[in-house]
Amino acid sequence: MTARSMTAPAIHFPLDMAHPKRSMDLLCGGIGLGSASPARLMKAHAISPPMLPPRKTIVLVGMMGAGKSAVGRKLAAALGLPFHDADSEIERAAGCSVNEIFEQLGETAFRDGERKVIARLLEGPPHVLATGGGAFIDTITRERIKRNATSVWLKADLDLLVERVSRKQTRPLLKNGNPRDILERLLRERGPVYAEADLIVESGNGQHEAVVEQIVAQLEQRAGI
Ligand code: S3P
Repeated sequence: MTARSMTAPAIHFPLDMAHPKRSMDLLCGGIGLGSASPARLMKAHAISPPMLPPRKTIVLVGMMGAGKSAVGRKLAAALGLPFHDADSEIERAAGCSVNEIFEQLGETAFRDGERKVIARLLEGPPHVLATGGGAFIDTITRERIKRNATSVWLKADLDLLVERVSRKQTRPLLKNGNPRDILERLLRERGPVYAEADLIVESGNGQHEAVVEQIVAQLEQRAGI
């Protein structure tokens, strides 16, 4: 029996969102989703006057290496909103890294946790949320984002993604094969789904600030969202 098949059934993310403290806390000895309540997650960000006050959370979606976290942080600062990174919140709740969750529990457990953490964040006040590359591909998460937030696809070409992901070894999906081949396949499969995002912004090789400007301009053009 593999380590995964021995452990996966025993540990799970909470199924009952109404009682987050009952579960999750076991996963890798983490603090559990209970502590990641919207009230706690949304506190204490120095908020400068917003360039435009978005009424909804802005969710960045797209491939690994597209720059969602880096752009998200800068976008949040520009808009005077708090910033959250879904993968970091999952790691905080689980008490271990995304890599460890994949290794010890498998991708299904990670996706369960990701779905729940993002659902919880979306319940909170408006913020900028960077999601992991697979989050928007999950049907339930995608519907939640469409209902509650403005989504932005940070679109980057394959060469740029390959170059960016080569800087870090933190992506479990890229470990079993040639990263370029894997990214190419994922981009082909996921591209049409990312294209369902409300806004699409090219994330090129330039400064993140330029991407932020494009997003802000598109948000201003569509002031209703
Ligand atoms: C994943 C992307 C990762 C992380 C996990 C799975 C994916 O996040 O959520 O490794 O399925 O594309 P980044 O997009 O921030 O690298």
